[in-house]
Amino acid sequence: MMRIFRLTVLPGDGIGPEVMEAAVSVILKMGEHYGVEFELNTELIGGSSYEEYGVPVTDETLQACKESDAVLLGAIGGPQWDKLPHHKKPESALLKLRHALELYSNLRPAKVYASLVEASPLKEEVVAATDVMVVRELTGGIYFGSPRGSDENRGWNTLTYSRPEVERIARIAFELAGKRRNNVTSVHKANVLESSQFWKDVVHEVHRNYPHISLTDMYVDNAAMQLVKAPKQFDVMVTSNLFGDVLSDCAAMLTGSIGMLPSASLNKDGFGMYEPIHGSAPDIAGQDVANPLATILSVSMMLRYSLNQVALADKINAAVNTVLDQGYRTQDIAADGDTVVGTSKMGDLVVEALKD
Ligand code: IPM
Ligand code: MG
Repeated sequence: MMRIFRLTVLPGDGIGPEVMEAAVSVILKMGEHYGVEFELNTELIGGSSYEEYGVPVTDETLQACKESDAVLLGAIGGPQWDKLPHHKKPESALLKLRHALELYSNLRPAKVYASLVEASPLKEEVVAATDVMVVRELTGGIYFGSPRGSDENRGWNTLTYSRPEVERIARIAFELAGKRRNNVTSVHKANVLESSQFWKDVVHEVHRNYPHISLTDMYVDNAAMQLVKAPKQFDVMVTSNLFGDVLSDCAAMLTGSIGMLPSASLNKDGFGMYEPIHGSAPDIAGQDVANPLATILSVSMMLRYSLNQVALADKINAAVNTVLDQGYRTQDIAADGDTVVGTSKMGDLVVEALKD
């Protein structure tokens, strides 16, 4: 019997709908050729939801996500919504989804593609063969702590981590490292913050169950520097919500191609939301120039981590590599001699490469 996967598709704002269209064409192709079927349910999110319903995410959309096998998101946000109060901003939809779906584990791989090494702003000898997985805690820490608020004279947020919160994200990091290069760096600010000292200690406790994995502690300021100076030393970096937000952008930039990087946000059962790392890029929206590969590679992560279709995930990665090897590039990753193509053409090329 054909397995049917139900996906909630949230294209979002800016370039979100364009990159999603390309990713959906890849999904449909998989459905036609590889013995799986996908049922897609598309909903508004972020600014586009705010315009239609007055809220960045409706309860119905949240419910649809909960009832699906996985969620695929494009991008959200734009300058026209910057002045809205916090709970109406497009970004708040993302935070609400993460929290409501309990997506505590955020995987953000930053891999330098050999064929794109020139796209990096750093020297080739520094970044070549870099392959870092940032494991970011996503539903705790200062993003969600209370009390929080502001008045005319003060603004405040609270940073707290509980033992179970640290334990579960540490386990994810050690398990992942076991499938990679057996090396975890725990990033914190234990020299200043009590919550970080606690984080550090709990990660070491969890580490006792993973004696074959090496664990290094690193202060976050040094980690930012080391990422730029010697990124190859890192395999898995595990860190808190805010530090992970900052370090994952830094890691992404090493690759010079933020338009290539996917991410996964998972709950304890492997259910997840998948999205490109890049934002909604309103400056290039609607021009058919955005890079859809990060969203297409997010489909691959979805197949691998939530839908247990590893062979299909590998096929997508191989198809993307084929297209890059053929010299096709969107403008963000193009160098002299490359063939520059638009968003939808890039999607078509990946679909074409999938046939083989
Ligand atoms: C990210 C983004 C979000 C975050 C914003 C848009 C809420 O920067 O996913 O990294 O801060 O987590
Ligand atoms: Mg961020």
